[in-house]
Amino acid sequence: MGQKEAESERIDGGGGVVVVEPKPKKGLSSKAVDWLEWAFVKMMHDPKKPLHYLAGNFAPVDETPPLTDLPVIGHLPECLNGEFVRVGPNPKFAPAAGYHWFDGDGMIHGMRIKDGKATFVSRFVKTSRLKQEEFYGGPKFMKIGDMKGMFGLFMVNMQMLRTKLKVLDVSYGFGTANTAMVYHHGKLLALSEGDKPYAIKVLEDGDLQTIGMMDYDKRLSHTFTAHPKVDPFTGEMFTFGYAQAPPYVTYRVISKEGVMEDPVPITIADPVMMHDFAITENYAIFMDLPLYFKPKEMVKDNKFIFSFDPTKKARFGILPRYAKNELLIRWFELPNCFIFHNANAWEEGDEVVLITCRLQNPDLDMVNGAVKEKLDNFTNELYEMRFNLKNGRASQKRLSVSAVDFPRVNESYTGRKQRYVYGTILDSIAKVTGIIKFDLHAEPETDKEKLEVGGNISGIFDLGPGRFGSEAVFVPRQPGITSEEDDGYLIFFAHDEKLGNPS
Ligand SMILES: [Fe+2]
Repeated sequence: MGQKEAESERIDGGGGVVVVEPKPKKGLSSKAVDWLEWAFVKMMHDPKKPLHYLAGNFAPVDETPPLTDLPVIGHLPECLNGEFVRVGPNPKFAPAAGYHWFDGDGMIHGMRIKDGKATFVSRFVKTSRLKQEEFYGGPKFMKIGDMKGMFGLFMVNMQMLRTKLKVLDVSYGFGTANTAMVYHHGKLLALSEGDKPYAIKVLEDGDLQTIGMMDYDKRLSHTFTAHPKVDPFTGEMFTFGYAQAPPYVTYRVISKEGVMEDPVPITIADPVMMHDFAITENYAIFMDLPLYFKPKEMVKDNKFIFSFDPTKKARFGILPRYAKNELLIRWFELPNCFIFHNANAWEEGDEVVLITCRLQNPDLDMVNGAVKEKLDNFTNELYEMRFNLKNGRASQKRLSVSAVDFPRVNESYTGRKQRYVYGTILDSIAKVTGIIKFDLHAEPETDKEKLEVGGNISGIFDLGPGRFGSEAVFVPRQPGITSEEDDGYLIFFAHDEKLGNPS
């Protein structure tokens, strides 16, 4: 990703926000590449392959301007005043060929709650990618869903050709901002791990406006995880980016005042997908897990571009969180796994404790196009992992059966020892069927074969037949750690497939 030179393209006093104004060029070359792509897709792509992640619960929706005074069933607690936002993939244009769950344009669903009244809004994040596809009125950027076999190589080349011919302008990256949101230093950010953050403004009426892309006054020149961590005690934000070329991982600290510190490259052997990380009071925890980026094998073996290697160990790196380089990182090994999301981490004596959702044998191709109702050989379970900084040993303990993910905690405790985890229960095709509360002080019931209340599971909220939800965000009744950790509210959106609209 390059950087636009002109200072006038920055927002004054914006703290490192760049106005996103890509300059794609229509013309003969644009039409020629479209034709080439159309012909190749016609020859190589099976149009009958169902696009599961464009149907039912995952079907795209239009923007919704603020809808005020929504009917309220029950009542809205007085302590809730603000905007609940959730971002997810929602493609504006039908794909040229394949489509993966991770591909859609970021759409933010917002719920403004004020004085017992609620307003709902849905807005696209106005990314450089979306602006250019709107300019052309159709899909132009490559998709993860096409990254398989020779076809994948061709689609990568189509994007390279469009870039070379200036049909597409990639100087602002081509991310979707579709994965997660974070609030730091007075800015609401929409994130996807292949790009820089987009800054979003919440207007007085609850509406949402994309104001630009964050580059932290030109200090950010790499990608930015969708899951940075804000320390509730210091106000700092800790983040990293990963890449397909060295340095494969770069760690960053952003001060309470929004100033990004110097990059800290982290060495790992090969490029991997690194979706999340964790912090404690004194450390940052990196996950080098064997889900590899393998473009050569994609073509040679007709595989999906990200492939899991079950023969490799899971590696966890623990670095003092203000380290200026990686000299003091300690690496630990545990049995092979993949992790999308951590719940939290903290220090206990000589140990660093990580609460996480551990997957066995993930296959990212399974959330691509046609999806089997039952995913073979797949588990996604809550785990406690321990890394002893004194003797160098690592251990792990299973805390639940499958399938649990998208864990959240009371974020007043991020990086500190805490008790409750709020996860989602997933059915076999990654739909959220319910919310589950874990009590980490209680022992898991090891003889259980399915998720049910008892042992360390202190509650399950089932959404009911045909209803699917998003992850639940915990909002404490009072910020801070002076009241009970679980005194607050869980907020999430639910969708009824029978009605077809968010409810
Ligand atoms: Fe995520």
